[in-house]
Amino acid sequence: MMKASNRSETIKEYYFSHKMREIQTLNDEGADVINLGIGSPDLMPDSSVNRALLEDLAEEGAFKYQPYNGIESFRKTIKAWYKETYNLDPIDSISTIPLIGSKEGIHFLCLAYLNPQDEALIPNPGYPAYASAIRLANGKPVSYTLKKEENWQINLSEIEAKITQKTKLLFVNYPHMPTGVMANRQRLESLIALAKRHDILLCNDNPYSLILSDEPFSILQIPGADEVCIELNSLSKSAAMAGSRIGMMVGREALLHPAFKIQTSFSSGMFRPLQKAAIAALNATSNFVAESNKEYRQRRNLIWSLFDKLDCTYQKETAGLFVWAEYQYPEFNSYEFSNHLLERYKIFIAPGELFGTQGNNYIRASLCQTQPEIRRAIHRL
Ligand SMILES: Cc1ncc(COP(=O)(O)O)c(C=O)c1O
Repeated sequence: MMKASNRSETIKEYYFSHKMREIQTLNDEGADVINLGIGSPDLMPDSSVNRALLEDLAEEGAFKYQPYNGIESFRKTIKAWYKETYNLDPIDSISTIPLIGSKEGIHFLCLAYLNPQDEALIPNPGYPAYASAIRLANGKPVSYTLKKEENWQINLSEIEAKITQKTKLLFVNYPHMPTGVMANRQRLESLIALAKRHDILLCNDNPYSLILSDEPFSILQIPGADEVCIELNSLSKSAAMAGSRIGMMVGREALLHPAFKIQTSFSSGMFRPLQKAAIAALNATSNFVAESNKEYRQRRNLIWSLFDKLDCTYQKETAGLFVWAEYQYPEFNSYEFSNHLLERYKIFIAPGELFGTQGNNYIRASLCQTQPEIRRAIHRL
């Protein structure tokens, strides 16, 4: 029997990958599960996106290899979009790399900046892909704690205490998934100063900045951030293009270059019609986001009602595609509670511990389900 690499043994199949199969099996058996798990927007992208994609499909060269760093018009549009969306000026020192989703960028950064046994700091609770990417790069994930009592903001003393000679990389993610809280600018300013003192690369993973947020935040807005910060951004959520897999890494050329070298070994440019579609999506952002946020706001009201039925508590001043709620049944850990809801009511809501130990007693519901479906879930409860 062939033996897989030790590296592959350091990670498990992604939770949603096997959970979606389980839900499909239940549905095949007639269960009619209402899925409030994953943050995959069901809204259609702006109509200009389809048009741009289809028009370019018929153009000469559409199926050829494309420049590794993206077609020029896409790179220019990303920069213009960053400037307009986040009010960033000057933008000249900033470069971009197109990505097949920001998840890919997390991997490239880990491969580019971690030597074996180097440490990377990640939030608990936080996106599970950080730890896997760090392990696959033979690095060591070190969690820092986000607490409800501190409104899920970074605690600088804790982070400082966890920094060692081996700490090379630190992930933050504001607006934060799964809690939905917005960045505390002052703390991030101090974190940037800390990263400068210790020569640590700081990455803000930023796919939710436009969802239910009145003031889009980029870490690059903070003066001097570009010396040590890279940002990952994505069209998955803001342009409802999760399945077409397109995003970007943004930062100073010198910081991006090691990740770019890795990318050129992994892939060979990106499908041009998709890049053209992404240009259309970025150009349509403000109207599209305003419209989709109207819908997400109504869905969020319904999810709040659903959580009221479950006697959960939740914060209302949040951004992003999820509601993060604390439940009051200590007899269940969050996996058990999520499974209980699935078995008894055929409603899937993600368990909080999927995002780390700080997610115990929490569950996370997605806004990527239609209002009638959420109403049906409320009715079932
Ligand atoms: C915090 C966070 N980062 C990154 C991603 C991945 O986004 P993308 O689709 O751009 O790879 C997600 C997706 O759910 C996420 O929640």
